[in-house]
Amino acid sequence: MKTVKVNASKAYDILIGEGLLDDSGKLSAAVVAVGKVCIVTDDTVAELYLERALRSFKEAGFDAVSFTIPHGEASKNTASLISLLEFLAENRLTRSDSLVALGGGVVGDLCGFAAAIYLRGISFIQIPTTLLAAVDSSVGGKTAVDLKAGKNLAGAFHQPSLVICDHKTLDTLPPETFADGCAEVIKYGVINDRQLFDLLKSKGIKPIIEDVIASCVKNKSNIVECDEFDTGKRQLLNLGHTVGHAIEICSELTISHGSAVAIGMVVVTKAAVAMGICQSGDLFELKSLLSAFSLPTECPYSAAELANIATADKKRMGDSISFVVPYGIGNSRLLKINVSDIEDFIKKGI
Ligand code: NAD
Ligand code: GLY
Repeated sequence: MKTVKVNASKAYDILIGEGLLDDSGKLSAAVVAVGKVCIVTDDTVAELYLERALRSFKEAGFDAVSFTIPHGEASKNTASLISLLEFLAENRLTRSDSLVALGGGVVGDLCGFAAAIYLRGISFIQIPTTLLAAVDSSVGGKTAVDLKAGKNLAGAFHQPSLVICDHKTLDTLPPETFADGCAEVIKYGVINDRQLFDLLKSKGIKPIIEDVIASCVKNKSNIVECDEFDTGKRQLLNLGHTVGHAIEICSELTISHGSAVAIGMVVVTKAAVAMGICQSGDLFELKSLLSAFSLPTECPYSAAELANIATADKKRMGDSISFVVPYGIGNSRLLKINVSDIEDFIKKGI
């Protein structure tokens, strides 16, 4: 088992190992009060892992109940949030009780937000079961639900008390969901971890999954420790996401998040090469690695279509958008681009 420590406004551990799900109750008992817990999950994950999680928490002395939502992004909404809050109140969870998010980023974001606001804040534990949740969403304390106007528009910063990542649970992921997570893994390499990038090139991911997850969450925790509330450096984690988000919308969500982020990383890297701030060899390496992980690299939309959507993006600050741009593999920086220049910038990358 590997442990990564996060020293944010609240300090906590990320535990990564095979089979940890069966010890999740005992591990949680070391950091939260042994009272009631509500395990929040989705219907797919419930069938696979809920019984084991409930057993583990009960064996550790918790009074454990569960709340299950239908799987998918459509459940990350205010209706699910209110149902969950009502369920917690009906089951009389108190301020010394805890929530447990067992699932991917949808469950983690919803459960974390409920924990942030129920009784003005109770503790919660993340048990990520997708690669994306293991390397990204379970760490760092961003919680949210979607509103009709867009994704993640209502939320709070609320750090978990513990993250327990049993990477054996990733074995049941559909290949395309696993590949989505691989895009986020490669992202960390391009942002600031040349060593991780090279390791992925030489060894792939599955044979070294524990080391890879540990490297990713170490990278993320370093960034979160510098900028927990996302006013500067944390924006680096959005590499590929501004263009990626526009691609997801253009495709009416038929292109998955990970695929869109992969293409988005290629677009900004190609634009950086055209601007003379990144070497063409870096672009070649990035495209080769993405292809090796079954991720797309060609953008099916025009710069005008993407710029239209990107300029309406919530990350826009006044008259400019901060794009994350690789100056080389392992060396990405924020670059402010004026709204009037965004179409030109994206055009360079297509
Ligand atoms: P998800 O939670 O919808 O999970 C994807 C699918 O995989 C679901 O259908 C789920 O039921 C299934 N699944 C989960 N674990 C499984 C397993 N072990 N075996 C088989 N199937 C399994 O999606 P995701 O990609 O994990 O997360 C995406 C969400 O995360 C988005 O809502 C996004 O906004 C959010 N996110 C949050 C942060 C953050 O910092 N809070 C960061 C990145 C993404
Ligand atoms: N996934 C982006 C962040 O946590 O800031």
